[in-house]
Amino acid sequence: KHILLLGPPGAGKGTQSKRLAEEFDLEHVTTGDALRSNKGMDISDMDTEYDTPGEYMDAGELVPDEVVNAIVEEALTSADGYVLDGYPRNLEQAEFLTDITDLDAVIYLSVDDEELVDRLTGRRVCPDCGASYHVEFAPPEEEGVCDECGADLEQRDDDTEETVRERLRVYEENTAPVVEHYREEGVLVEVDGEGSPDEVFETLVDVVDA
Ligand code: AP5
Ligand code: ZN
Repeated sequence: KHILLLGPPGAGKGTQSKRLAEEFDLEHVTTGDALRSNKGMDISDMDTEYDTPGEYMDAGELVPDEVVNAIVEEALTSADGYVLDGYPRNLEQAEFLTDITDLDAVIYLSVDDEELVDRLTGRRVCPDCGASYHVEFAPPEEEGVCDECGADLEQRDDDTEETVRERLRVYEENTAPVVEHYREEGVLVEVDGEGSPDEVFETLVDVVDA
């Protein structure tokens, strides 16, 4: 299966994609994680504003299409089935995606803006194993410590309130039109992302199974 999960920053794309990938034995392809592993990559030869992906990310801006498209093309070519999360983020990326693959389901997780700010500013992540928590909504058993591997949890550099608001602005400007594009094509399935993680997951499983 080829599944696309769309939604604003903090909608729960990472949380749910990971679980869907396990449930249906698919590859979890996420441009956010791929870029975080390559924050310092030298892209200065590409005629871009900044010299590394990390500078765009910490400012809440989109990393240039050229960089991101290459990551996605490579990941999708080597994946049999996948859940794609964090891409496409503008209409140009959506067009590129149409050229390289076909999709079985396009799902949009909707969550209210103020809830998104609370989710992102309270998120804590494990630098060692990548597990994700929330200080209030999904706390680890011991405060500040990863349940999976015992490492100290950290806050993502772009999860400060100021950068979160910029990411939401960039989403409205660039990515909301992508959602509308799939809606107009009649392929979009909208799922309420405001239930508990388990409730949202159950709904997603039903959509993918349908
Ligand atoms: P990326 O890593 O993709 O970030 P994002 O889209 O902003 O999404 P997040 O990872 O912040 O949120 P999420 O929806 O995955 O939510 P999560 O499950 O963690 O991108 C980061 C940056 O990389 C971009 O700003 C850009 O610079 C660059 N980039 C990436 N892709 C790009 C592209 N295609 N083109 C150009 N640039 C690109 O959940 C959030 C929190 O809420 C967690 O704490 C979680 O525990 C909690 N939570 C989850 N579900 C629930 C629930 N149901 N109820 C309560 N709390 C919940
Ligand atoms: Zn960990």
